[in-house]
Amino acid sequence: MNTIEVGDRKFEISITNERINERTKLIAAQISADYKDKCPIFIGVLNGSFLFMADLLKETEIPCEVAFMKVSSYQGGLTSSGEMKEIFGLPDNLKDRHLILVEDIVDTGFTLKYILEKVYLQAPASVRVCSLLFKPEAILSPIKELEYVGFEIPNEFVVGYGLDYDELGRNLKHIYRTIS
Ligand code: XMP
Ligand code: MG
Repeated sequence: MNTIEVGDRKFEISITNERINERTKLIAAQISADYKDKCPIFIGVLNGSFLFMADLLKETEIPCEVAFMKVSSYQGGLTSSGEMKEIFGLPDNLKDRHLILVEDIVDTGFTLKYILEKVYLQAPASVRVCSLLFKPEAILSPIKELEYVGFEIPNEFVVGYGLDYDELGRNLKHIYRTIS
């Protein structure tokens, strides 16, 4: 199905699961080469990263640790408010470790800015960000750590493959863009 309803909106297909998988394999190979002897800690930012994190990690071929964290914010609907509340679950043993933060999407960059400030307090050896999606036109707080990007997309709202519209649509296997 090329169009789909999620909540009160219609969406059309934007990036198929097949394209996501192809791209994910390439990124995993790149990360595996870059971190061969570094035993990185992958930290998935919930909820949006859960599928990408799983598919990415299955394709990596290096010793690594896996963790998840969550940021609660006041956002909902179609816009990113930039107001953060709190971080849950960030591991407390990050000193001198190589970190890869895994995100579903970088939009304004405010979420990552907030997370990175907390992460650097622990003096990790290095920090990079891997995001499935990036909206270059929407960025307000540039993220110098953004090293691995699956797809650059226009400034349009998307759902599916972990991304939600008011918590719906995370289970869709493809990524869809809003049409109404
Ligand atoms: P910022 O603006 O802080 O946004 O970089 C990051 C978080 O905002 C959510 N977000 C989206 N969620 N479709 C979604 O389902 C989108 O197009 C979208 N843009 C931003 C998302 O939770 C992300 O982690
Ligand atoms: Mg969301």
